[in-house]
Amino acid sequence: MNRMFGDRKIGARSVDEITASRRLRRLRKADWSRRMVRESRLSVDDLIWPIFVIEGENRREEIAAMPGVYRMTLDLAVAQVEEAAKLGIPAIATFPNIERGLRDQTGSHILDADNILNKASRAIKQAVPEIGIITDAALDPFTDHGHDGILREGVIVNDESVAQIAEAAVLQAASGADVIAPSDMMDGRIGAVRDALDANGFQDVAIMSYATKFASSFYGPYREAVGTAGLLQGDKQTYYIDHANSDEAMREAEQDLAEGADMIMVKPGLPYLDIVHRLKDAFAVPTFAYQVSGEYAMIKAAGANGWIDEDRAMMESLLCLKRAGCDGILTYFAPQVARVLSER
Ligand code: PBG
Repeated sequence: MNRMFGDRKIGARSVDEITASRRLRRLRKADWSRRMVRESRLSVDDLIWPIFVIEGENRREEIAAMPGVYRMTLDLAVAQVEEAAKLGIPAIATFPNIERGLRDQTGSHILDADNILNKASRAIKQAVPEIGIITDAALDPFTDHGHDGILREGVIVNDESVAQIAEAAVLQAASGADVIAPSDMMDGRIGAVRDALDANGFQDVAIMSYATKFASSFYGPYREAVGTAGLLQGDKQTYYIDHANSDEAMREAEQDLAEGADMIMVKPGLPYLDIVHRLKDAFAVPTFAYQVSGEYAMIKAAGANGWIDEDRAMMESLLCLKRAGCDGILTYFAPQVARVLSER
């Protein structure tokens, strides 16, 4: 006779007969045992915080679709990054919103050593040397058409874009970036960036490849944040991966690793857990996910309406990415998560 559950026959058999006495609820019954058998954990070491920077002083701009996220001038950004470092966040990723007048067809301002992205790296490196700086070498914030590559007669030209991205990566490394994260999905960019970094003495600057970046509707709020929303002509399907494809994502990651990527990333995050799992299983390399702006917006919006518990949904979404195989996650929630973790 089972004291806890009773020993009732359900039809012909009791539950103990049905389960042969294997009851999975035994280990779920108390907090101590749930903690003891927990398989995945989220720690502050898993967090990379993407931030948006703008020219000027003591100014921050709201991003309507990303409540709690701001474009910040460097003085404010540096203060926020200092705060993030104090919370234990290991790294940040910077994205610029470039003035309209500086954007052109080729994104030439990315090659200005004094553009806001490079200035941000120098300022952050000087003020907060202990935090890792990850920069995106894509052209989209710098082009007047919002694409990640150079647009010529309606075509995103691959090789010319790659040459410019590699050159930009060297400038970013020279400005203090510790990791170059090319997000443009041009063919050959990882090898080209590696060669350019090495040729210029930046052998110790790492590459985090946005290896599997999918053509996705979840980037909408980011495009508002970097000011490409109204500019983008057409879509990015000729260079991002079709979100129906997973074998293709494997080939893309394999290629990037062969070209010299130190880390790979899956983007977006939560709708792509299968990709994270396949990549981690197959390659066993440092694997990251980007919980993108649209994922952030959905959790924030539902939380603000009282439709879900924001903090719990935030923690669950990130823990699930860990369970799928992520070594870390880029998330706009990073400081909020760090605070929740430190209160536990
Ligand atoms: C483009 C880029 C994108 C994001 C970061 N860099 C996507 C895009 O505009 O196509 C998305 C980030 C997010 O949605 O949070 N190089």
